[in-house]
Order: sequence, then structure tokens, then C-alpha cells
Amino acid sequence: MRLDKLLANMGYGTRKEVKKVLKTGSVLVDGKAVKDGSVHIKPDEQEITIFGEEVHYKPFIYLMMNKPKGVISATEDREHETVIDLLAYEHALFEPFPVGRLDKDTEGFVLLTNDGKLAHELMSPKKHVPKTYVATVSGRVSEEDIVSFKQGVELDDGYVTKPGELVIHVPGEISKIALTISEGKFHQVKRMFKSVGKKVLELKRISIGPLQLDENLGLGEYRELTEEEIERLKHAQDEMGNATV
Ligand code: URA
Repeated sequence: MRLDKLLANMGYGTRKEVKKVLKTGSVLVDGKAVKDGSVHIKPDEQEITIFGEEVHYKPFIYLMMNKPKGVISATEDREHETVIDLLAYEHALFEPFPVGRLDKDTEGFVLLTNDGKLAHELMSPKKHVPKTYVATVSGRVSEEDIVSFKQGVELDDGYVTKPGELVIHVPGEISKIALTISEGKFHQVKRMFKSVGKKVLELKRISIGPLQLDENLGLGEYRELTEEEIERLKHAQDEMGNATV
């Protein structure tokens, strides 16, 4: 990786600012001043210091975002704002991408990372990573729906869903529910309710695997996962990997 990119990723300034610092000779690689930011570095093998302080390189970034409606969970979109557009420069530099998709009109937990291996495993249909959604549903969600979702319902394309756990929080003609599913078919939650004659009015994702969306995050806000959360995610992903499918 280029030295200037590495230092910028680590928060030592923009590429332009880092270039200026490099010119002063304050950055040493294995004890020697390096002034050229385009030099390629192996951060695992080489020691880098800046103003005498060692740079502990962390290659990966893990972010928890509370996506607002209207924002697309993709890295680019011609018309609409994306989750990447909501990131500060210092985080965007790591080039994270959203793990899986949330619909444009769905709010809630989006995990962003540049750890391709973890993202791939979390998205793998074989791993059955559970995700919990809360929803406002038009129509009286019933005990029969709980049973149907547990058994699997047939979607409009003939696909029969894996068992989902439905909990009715507020019953009524407008129901408030939580649904945990372990797959991610296109518009899955909305289509599951459609299959039992109901319509999702509002949808929010509140958990992914072992992680809960931080209630302190307002819409459009995000934070880095803590070390403990990253460990939990990796541990859960290992366990899911070992589960028989
Ligand atoms: N199910 C949906 O219908 N939409 C989402 O965004 C996520 C799950």
C-alpha cells in the first residue's frame, strides 16, 4: 500500500497534508526518512513512525450506521444519496461498502466495512445470519401469521421462506411487530407480509447477527464498532460457519 494512503487512512491528514509532512522528513520507515508518498509499504512487516511516534496500522474499518429513508445502501448511485455519501472523509478513505442491502425506504442498521472476507461470510446464504426488523404493518397480524412465518411462507415467485420468528408488539388493525429472518431475499419482509395479505408501512432493521443497532445513533449517524463488537461478530461468524446447513 502507498505510504501516503496508509498515513491518510490512519487519520494523519488528507493525502495533500500528508504529502507536506512527508516532505519535512518526519516519517521514518524502518528508521529511514521517506519523503515520497508513492513508496509502497508492507504495514505488517515494516515499522513506520511519524514525529517519532509509531504508526499502528489497522487495515480494516467496521461501521454501524442508522440509515435514514431515501438513502441507498450502495457505494454509488446516479440519482440518490448513498450510505457512503454520509461518511466523513477519514472513514470514506478506507473505502468501506455496505454489507447487504436495505431498501431505500427502510431505515436502520447498515454495517459497512472494507473487510471483504467478513462481509462475504455475513452475506452468505449458507451462514444464516439472523437479522431482526421492526415494522408497522397495515392489517391485524395474528397468531396464525406467527405459525405461518415459522413454517415458511410462499413468496410471489414461488420461493418458500426459511423459518422466521414473528413477535407481535402491538396488535390491531395497524400492528407493530418484530421479525427475525436468516436470509435476505429481495424485499423479503415486505413480501412475507404480502403473502399473508398485509402491507408493511414502515420498516427498520435493528440487529445483524449478535449486534444491536446503537439507540444513541440518530438517523444518518454512524460509529465505529468497538473491539468487543468486532470480536463478537467474528466469533458469531465462525460459529455460523461451523453450523451444519
Ligand atoms: N426486507 C425488506 O422488505 N426490505 C428491506 O430493506 C429489508 C428486508
